[in-house]
Amino acid sequence: MDAILQVENLTTSFLTSNGEVQAVRGVSFSVGKGEILGIVGESGSGKSVTSMSILRLLADTARIKDGSILFEGEDLTKVSKKKLREIRGNKISMIFQDPMSSLNPLIPVGKQVSEMIKIHHPKMGKEERKAQVMELFAKVRIPEPEKRYHSFPHEFSGGMRQRVMIAMALANKPELLIADEPTTALDVTIQDQILRQLRELDKEYGASIIFITHDLGVVAELCDRVLVMYGGLIMEEARIEDIFERPGHPYTMGLLHSIPDVEQEKSERLEPIPGSPPDMTNPPAGCPFAPRCSYARKVCAGSLPDFVEVGEGHRTRCFLQYEDAPADEHNPFRGGNR
Ligand SMILES: Nc1ncnc2c1ncn2[C@@H]1O[C@H](COP(=O)(O)OP(=O)(O)OP(=O)(O)O)[C@@H](O)[C@H]1O
Ligand SMILES: [Mg+2]
Repeated sequence: MDAILQVENLTTSFLTSNGEVQAVRGVSFSVGKGEILGIVGESGSGKSVTSMSILRLLADTARIKDGSILFEGEDLTKVSKKKLREIRGNKISMIFQDPMSSLNPLIPVGKQVSEMIKIHHPKMGKEERKAQVMELFAKVRIPEPEKRYHSFPHEFSGGMRQRVMIAMALANKPELLIADEPTTALDVTIQDQILRQLRELDKEYGASIIFITHDLGVVAELCDRVLVMYGGLIMEEARIEDIFERPGHPYTMGLLHSIPDVEQEKSERLEPIPGSPPDMTNPPAGCPFAPRCSYARKVCAGSLPDFVEVGEGHRTRCFLQYEDAPADEHNPFRGGNR
């Protein structure tokens, strides 16, 4: 599959009074044309910093210390701010978790979407732009688009505001849409509707999507492929069916045990992974998950495991997957109990 985005060894830190927060520590991945790539992981694993690095929307204290982000032959870590503004909201757009923080409360929503088109198509007439906004509102199923065009953000429910954000993100038919937990604040029914729309829009426009969430259930519904992040690293990468059928990392197994199983009784208790994520000002030298991993051995704390290929397009960072790892009952990948 042709890659639209290629991230190589991305390393992003924050310089704070407590020291350097090593938020993203050498992350490499690509996004195929028309592909929906999920990024999952617990809070603080580096998902947002990875995605914000792509469009350089990071706080002033952030530094991209190493790596490259190739998009259409250009390295986004090096292009000028002007060039980046041309790309943002046009070829690459982003949807954030909280639509209220990205919408201007004083401007009617239709006008805000229209302005987004105007920035990148200054010659287009006002009427044509308005017609396009109507079409977008209809596409994301905002009822009575003509009337809603003139409404202000506070007159919309959370779900409707999120649809406005999606309409705005799609206004210029982006080649890549980055959605950072766009449905977390919404109730399950609305979340389902929005996911269905994203999937339809992906088919219709052929756009690629990076979808960030801490919910593997959502990933299962929407994505083609997934990256599992922890401690600023990719721990596992796999096609969607493989991650559920053959999780290749104890951390992924832990995440899978903490999602509700739709086929189980509702009373089924979820098991969150015990323990808490590492302090990223002083990340452990070894596998960052080792202190919480019930399969961890001595070797795991010593140094960081390299990636091991465990299947087609399936790689994982775990010593227990090494060829010379002992195959005993304590190795979930070699005969042990999962
Ligand atoms: N502005 C900042 N200054 C200092 N540290 C930051 C800043 N933003 C993020 N971090 C740190 O970078 C690390 C990665 O954060 P990030 O926001 O990418 O996590 P996340 O995976 O998106 O989590 P969540 O699921 O909560 O959104 C965390 O340790 C976080 O505390
Ligand atoms: Mg985040």
